[in-house]
Amino acid sequence: MERWSPDSWRSKPIVQVPTYSDPEALADVERQISTFPPLVFAGEARKLKKLLAQVCAGEAFLLQGGDCAESFAEHSADNIRDFFRVFLQMAVVMTFGAAMPVVKLGRIAGQFAKPRSAPTETIDGVELPSYRGDIINDIAFTPEAREPDPRRQLMSYRQSAATLNLLRAFATGGYANLENAHRWMLGFVKDSPQSDRYEKLANQITETLGFMRAIGLDPEHHHELRQTEIYTSHEALLLGYEQALTRVDSTSGDHYATSGHLLWVGDRTRQPDHAHVEFLRGIKNPVGLKCGPTTTPDGLLRLIDLLNPANEAGRLTLIARFGAEKVGDHLPQLIRAVTREGRKVVWSCDPMHGNTVKAGAYKTRPFDRVMQEIRSFFDVHRAEGTYAGGVHLEMTGSNVTECTGGARALSEADLRSRYITYCDPRLNAEQAIEVAFLIAEKLKKDRAAALTEANAAE
Ligand code: PEP
Ligand code: CO
Repeated sequence: MERWSPDSWRSKPIVQVPTYSDPEALADVERQISTFPPLVFAGEARKLKKLLAQVCAGEAFLLQGGDCAESFAEHSADNIRDFFRVFLQMAVVMTFGAAMPVVKLGRIAGQFAKPRSAPTETIDGVELPSYRGDIINDIAFTPEAREPDPRRQLMSYRQSAATLNLLRAFATGGYANLENAHRWMLGFVKDSPQSDRYEKLANQITETLGFMRAIGLDPEHHHELRQTEIYTSHEALLLGYEQALTRVDSTSGDHYATSGHLLWVGDRTRQPDHAHVEFLRGIKNPVGLKCGPTTTPDGLLRLIDLLNPANEAGRLTLIARFGAEKVGDHLPQLIRAVTREGRKVVWSCDPMHGNTVKAGAYKTRPFDRVMQEIRSFFDVHRAEGTYAGGVHLEMTGSNVTECTGGARALSEADLRSRYITYCDPRLNAEQAIEVAFLIAEKLKKDRAAALTEANAAE
């Protein structure tokens, strides 16, 4: 295999990148960023890889989620707190339902660059470059706003640092106390139109917490109950920025991307001989690979060879995003190829990107299709005897109206009331928690079925 270096991607073909009009200014920004402190440490990335190895072995579940695109305008403590809170609630629901640890991985603190289906956008006969995420250009529809500006990378770095700082504080400073998370959940159960369905699990958690307290397992004395760990991830799209934050880890001598703990390659940039795969193959972080309807079994195996040649458990997470109607046709053949070749991967389900539809001026995702893709994903894994290890969601803690359906049956006419995403439609807090309940139910059923089979075999 060819030698890798942090800049070896530069000699490969590349798609989905902006053209900067001032290459000097771009080089200057990249130079600056390369002197900034890392946002995450190599040791943390290794820890996440170990946790993902547990997921790979069927001993934990991966919850990955956050905005489609973070934005400079929506950067507030409230937004971060609301996201963190709903993420914790989901994790609690899933941990209790499945009786296994949940690995929490935000699409946050770096999720700024977006691949686009077209390089330009036309409104009322005016054609301008597409918006590519706040790290590249501005969403306003003017020629100045859409001009790629390298200084936005400095803003993204600083915003990521501030977001990560608050997340770390929430995770360890008392906010993440398990009893808090449960109390918030009780509030959700009370307000939800579907509360009956959820009450049972909520009561079960209350009982368990009471039991734990009674035997002396209280948050005051056990930091595991008071603190949590949250990791960060984003699509590795803007490679100049990623390269500038790639550093040699002094402990291992290996290269790590320090812009986030896990980076993934998207559906549009995963060509095996192109720049994005080249960059990802050399960093030692855990990495993700989106798989979609155009992924073939042979193509997938080739990418696995490139991204995880040592077949290390936890290194590679395959993020399946087929769409509710396609997952049943496409996923089994990929699973069979991976299983036949003995490749260790985490299988995660992105039920968002294959289920996007137009509703008038809005892009939306019908919530029942999102739920259907998750159900089918679990069913396919059950049939293949493999482990459905994770979910990858576009979601927010705010009460947005971007995906139709859910317990409150949001209609297409409701979309306009709070549609604020910078890119794809996200699940709101209630919809996200409904997903968590569905997964808890699925994991529990699969577990029960596996136990019955094991007992029958004895
Ligand atoms: C995304 O995750 O926001 C995205 C663009 O997904 P995909 O590459 O799977 O289309
Ligand atoms: Co998206």
